[in-house]
Amino acid sequence: MPYDTVKLIYFSPTRTTQKILQAMARGMPVARIDQLDLTPPQAETQSFAELGEELTILGAPVYAGRLPIEAVRRLRRLKSREAPAIVVVVYGNRAYEDALLELKDLAVEQGFRPLAAGAFIGEHSYSTGNRPIAHGRPDEADLNQAREFGQRVFQKLTRVRKWDRMPVLEVPGNFPYKERMKRPPEAPSTQEGLCLLCGTCATVCPAAAVVVEEAVITEPERCLVCQACVKSCPTGARVMEVERINKVAEWLNTHCALRKEPELFL
Ligand SMILES: Cc1cc2nc3c(=O)[nH]c(=O)nc-3n(C[C@H](O)[C@H](O)[C@H](O)COP(=O)(O)O)c2cc1C
Repeated sequence: MPYDTVKLIYFSPTRTTQKILQAMARGMPVARIDQLDLTPPQAETQSFAELGEELTILGAPVYAGRLPIEAVRRLRRLKSREAPAIVVVVYGNRAYEDALLELKDLAVEQGFRPLAAGAFIGEHSYSTGNRPIAHGRPDEADLNQAREFGQRVFQKLTRVRKWDRMPVLEVPGNFPYKERMKRPPEAPSTQEGLCLLCGTCATVCPAAAVVVEEAVITEPERCLVCQACVKSCPTGARVMEVERINKVAEWLNTHCALRKEPELFL
């Protein structure tokens, strides 16, 4: 089958996963790039038509060594007819642990045929200018690697004659996967003096945890602490002032400062 389209399917609150997938697609000689963004809260209940056979790149960030549960729930709503897929996780320079294996297994369960995989590095959700953790990544070097990887996977795909002769894709990770971290309800807050009530925080929240009326109201029980609202607030009014998270961010800033590089499996 000729592959003239690549479909990008991702959950990406702070957009680093989306950037990596888009760079990979730019390395492919395809006429069309389709995108299915599973980040908005509607993706939790939306019905999706069965996917075709087009080459697909599935991407999600790593949360505590696993896929975010919200990404899993949304990806489970998809059904593919054996489309070839590249599975990609993006992590904040600490570790990706079982997340890539989890995404590969999930892809198989939903009917995809994983033919390549990658673990890329993105700016950590908790990174700030004064407390950087992989700040500014993916950078030019990461995006070039993603583009070249897309090119190499596409070449591999065009050489596949019989899928049943393809070796099974092996990726790092353990099963049973590491236990999901339980955390208390917590959320960013809003500095009223700086807030313009523009509603950006509510628009970008993947969990519908923020409502903006005469003030910004956040439901900590829904919040994923993904930092999408903090990073997109135009006036810097949205801040993460939760002691536990600030301690984690300090630890990451100290212990995960050494640059990690993407790992590719083809
Ligand atoms: C709740 C939470 C848990 C995270 N856990 C990890 C982790 O285990 N390892 C890691 O390296 N980065 C971790 N990160 C950082 C994200 O994986 C990283 O910032 C990623 O680039 C975010 O992807 P996105 O921009 O597509 O949302 C975590 C971020 C959040 C919000």
